[in-house]
Amino acid sequence: MNYLIAPSLLSADFARLGEQAAAVIQAGGDLLHLDVMDNHYVPNLTVGPLVCESLRKFGITAPIDVHLMTKPVDRLITEFAKAGATQISFHPEASDHSARSLDLIRHHHCKAGLAINPETTLQCLEFLWDKIDFILIMTVNPGFGGQKFIPAVLEKIEKARTLIGKSGKNIRLAVDGGINKDTIEAVAKAGADTFIAGSAIFNTSNYSETIAEMRKKLEKIK
Ligand code: DX5
Ligand code: ZN
Repeated sequence: MNYLIAPSLLSADFARLGEQAAAVIQAGGDLLHLDVMDNHYVPNLTVGPLVCESLRKFGITAPIDVHLMTKPVDRLITEFAKAGATQISFHPEASDHSARSLDLIRHHHCKAGLAINPETTLQCLEFLWDKIDFILIMTVNPGFGGQKFIPAVLEKIEKARTLIGKSGKNIRLAVDGGINKDTIEAVAKAGADTFIAGSAIFNTSNYSETIAEMRKKLEKIK
């Protein structure tokens, strides 16, 4: 399995965002996760497309995974695509028409993903398999970094992996929230292949060491 680790910039020092983004990639991160919160869909406010564009101008070439926790989503999809996003996910509850939003992401040549809250079932995927490049399973409720992993979601990760298998499509399965060196093994065993981690990486003094420790846990189950 080609496992990917995606440091979440939500826990970075925003005054030094470019440097921190470069540092976590240098330390072995595969892609950068950028959390976009609007103080409406979730009770927190973070960054807009300008910041994504600034990261690109700063020289960040790693893939940028934009996680939209906003309502509505369509205008921001276009703006983030133009600002240099590589892939974009949104929550189906936040779009009036998920199929159209997914199409819009691909229209801009980005990979399209659906983000699934802990209490949301996988039913929303049923007629969208042709439009999805990745599924992002929330393992905490969206809105804040540093929350505790919700173990009940493991069963949903397993189900999602089974459904991906049945679909026969090349769809990645990401997990987001409370992922650290203690929880990564369980989510990987359940079928996740992309691991988004904010506080677990940025709240440590040695990013390389932390990412290496996470990869070591993954090696065990290869
Ligand atoms: C939460 C965000 C996450 C957040 C995860 O709503 O979607 O990406 O950064 O933070 P940690 O890894 O600290 O749980
Ligand atoms: Zn996120």
